[in-house]
Amino acid sequence: MERKWWQEEVIYQIYPKSFKDSNGDGIGDIRGITEKLDYLKDLGVTMLWICPVYRSPMDDNGYDVSDYRALAPEFGEMEDLEELIREAKRREIKIMMDLVINHSSDEHEWFRKALEDPESRYHDYYVFKEGTEIPNNWRSIFGGSVWEKVPGRDEYYYHTFGKKQPDLNWENEELRKELYDMVNWWLDQGIAGFRIDAISFIKKDLTWESREPDGVDGLVKCTKTSRNWPGIEKFLYELRNETFDKHCCVTVAEAAGVPYDKMDEFIGEDGFFDMIFDFRYADLDIASGSEWFKRIPWTVKELNEKIMASQMTMQKYGWTANFIENHDQPRAASKYLKEAQDNPDAVKMMAAMYFFLRGTPFIYQGQELGMVDFERTSIEQFNDISSIDQYYRSIEEGLTEDEALKIVNLRSRDNARTPFPWNGEKYGGFSEETPWLEMTEEYPKINANAQVGQQGSIYEFYREMIAYRQSGPHRDTLIYGAIEPVETGDDVIAYRRYTDEESICCLFNFSGEEREETLPSENGTPLWGNLDHVSVDGNKIRLQPYQAVLIKEKM
Ligand code: NOJ
Ligand code: CA
Repeated sequence: MERKWWQEEVIYQIYPKSFKDSNGDGIGDIRGITEKLDYLKDLGVTMLWICPVYRSPMDDNGYDVSDYRALAPEFGEMEDLEELIREAKRREIKIMMDLVINHSSDEHEWFRKALEDPESRYHDYYVFKEGTEIPNNWRSIFGGSVWEKVPGRDEYYYHTFGKKQPDLNWENEELRKELYDMVNWWLDQGIAGFRIDAISFIKKDLTWESREPDGVDGLVKCTKTSRNWPGIEKFLYELRNETFDKHCCVTVAEAAGVPYDKMDEFIGEDGFFDMIFDFRYADLDIASGSEWFKRIPWTVKELNEKIMASQMTMQKYGWTANFIENHDQPRAASKYLKEAQDNPDAVKMMAAMYFFLRGTPFIYQGQELGMVDFERTSIEQFNDISSIDQYYRSIEEGLTEDEALKIVNLRSRDNARTPFPWNGEKYGGFSEETPWLEMTEEYPKINANAQVGQQGSIYEFYREMIAYRQSGPHRDTLIYGAIEPVETGDDVIAYRRYTDEESICCLFNFSGEEREETLPSENGTPLWGNLDHVSVDGNKIRLQPYQAVLIKEKM
């Protein structure tokens, strides 16, 4: 693959509502991000992905846009964003925005006009069906039918996500053109590119046929009926052609469920995007079908297989975006390490495991501190619309309130959305006022102030790890090198990164006990890791509990 500038980035994801409040209203904002640029520079990240800051009623915290060309007043003014872009640039940090074009908010002017006047051109900007009955049995991602009745009319509108997020009708050419103009306008504002939200849903099955139900509610997941649906290629190709191709920018698509044999169309040489997130290993604990609320037990071996299958596919066609956390996922320490979530060695090992995979690494705010999930004891403590929906749906399925709460806690998106703990003082230095969502209980212990500059802290480990990838003596191999799996015992994940000149074997012990592995070659040189001591003898390596180690192999 020809080298591209974005392969060298380390991208830090910011959930603006929870990062830093600059004006004491308990809500994080753009100026808050600008205030903390030096922290991000010190960490060593080169680009920020900022979750939506556009005008929005915030039903889904900004993923419900009511004006694509204006900012939400709680986040700031356009000048604040310009200042952020400028100040970031001064520190050689690029800004990537979130692009939410599968749906808008129901408070968007287009939707309001569509409701007011079914004869207006805006009516066809959305997906409406006339009739007195719900058009089909498809279930929305946040639960319940994808169809919502239009008040006072025998008509329904379609929403893949929440009721306040009506889907845009990509079949309408005028709508597509409006979206492309908007995308180009943003790219002209000096941003480096986009993370593109829920883009696999833009093409629907136009037969609108009901399917065999997969839940007691009689509905079927809309992922089965209208995700990556044939015909989507035409829209994605056009989107790229009319917008991204005209700029020097980077695109990262949230394109869940793309079949591996279709990956070429998405990220190949002539693909729609530069990279996509693959959720197969992030979602390895999620069940589907009628038992959706259960968590599937998984093993390190399965995690290993899923990661490697993903890596080998992505390598075959192009490049990928590597992540272990985001604003929709639980904290990685809690999810992947379970009872070892408080063990800093384990957290560092896990970090190195995904960070040196082939692809551009993404870090979600707070991940660099080893933040953990926050167990809520009542449904009132949740903000996430999907958690609230899942709670009531699980009760309908027959779970007790306690069981429902337990289930929701495990996967709630609020786990990762707690305000960023800058220090151990009141409200963690996030705000002077009560934050919009409770801080985690751990913040007096797990916070930036307690870790920055502290030898051995998780933050300092991330800093060192980023620097090692970006400017260490093996950067070419670690960034551009190929990858292949290395066979190991069940609790160890291992892979090799290699070029024609060098080969680095990377091993990660996910067990709390020592593990001995046989290295493919003798007398390798340990290069880097999370623990001081590495014990190699000939082709045997004795890994300490939760040890991560990179070994240069004899070629
Ligand atoms: C994916 C986003 O990451 C998530 O937070 C949002 O709720 C949905 N798309 C809908 O926009
Ligand atoms: Ca604020």
